[in-house]
Amino acid sequence: MLVSAKEMLQKAKAGRYAVGQFNINNLEWTKAILQTAQELNSPVILGVSEGAGKYMCGFKTVADMVKAMIDGLGITVPVALHLDHGTYEGCYRCIEAGFSSIMFDGSHYPIAENVEKTKELVRVCAEKGLSLEAEVGAIGGEEDGVIGMGECADPNECKQIADLGVTMLAAGIGNIHGKYPENWQGLSFETLAAVSEKVGSMPLVLHGGTGIPADQIKKAISLGVSKINVNTECQLAFADATRKYIEAGKDLQGKGFDPRKLLAPGVEAIKATVKEKMELFGSVGKA
Ligand code: 13P
Repeated sequence: MLVSAKEMLQKAKAGRYAVGQFNINNLEWTKAILQTAQELNSPVILGVSEGAGKYMCGFKTVADMVKAMIDGLGITVPVALHLDHGTYEGCYRCIEAGFSSIMFDGSHYPIAENVEKTKELVRVCAEKGLSLEAEVGAIGGEEDGVIGMGECADPNECKQIADLGVTMLAAGIGNIHGKYPENWQGLSFETLAAVSEKVGSMPLVLHGGTGIPADQIKKAISLGVSKINVNTECQLAFADATRKYIEAGKDLQGKGFDPRKLLAPGVEAIKATVKEKMELFGSVGKA
């Protein structure tokens, strides 16, 4: 069932667990994540970056594929199709294409402009029944080979954006996308606690879920995080399983070159990763 992320995240916040957002890249990725969610009776959010949307031939192709797959696979758990780190224009394109949820990442704008654009999107999303994620405090990550440390959001700015009526809020708490560097200081729970106190019942989003130790994930959930984004970890698991298949020469045996066989170990690896995360986040059985 394709739904907005509002209800699933409000339930998660009240029940002190988190719903995973897993980014998709193609049909195999989407199918693996949907099947795992159904098997574990867990709500799920499919994340699509603008780059991945382009790769998959546009947001309409993605939305139509996801809707058809939910139907074709008989998926009954709540599924949100969400734009990840959307630009202002990207948000409108996803609304048009039939997404059920969007993220407007205005964190790189001055706060006044972030507020103004987020406010407008709050109104549009409310009209159309979509959930909206906003961001305060940029999330670090690798850019041109340099890993930027994550910023810590200003709790007052978080309140300002939360009060506009967004569905969920991503606040930078020292988290970064991709692998964490050796010298990473860990999540700033001080920032998270301060943001949580300011925004009350608003579900908080933790980006950069790959590589955050389990104890820090649990603590973040206890302090109000209700949505956790995971992308790189599924990519690493897929690549690793595919490499092993090829290195073992399995593509050269019988019809091992058939893409349905060649991609199968990678798909199983994505499923195992998603399952592990859903268990850690506490969303199993919460559909
Ligand atoms: P990772 O790739 O570090 O898991 O981050 C995913 C993410 O936050 C997507 O917005």
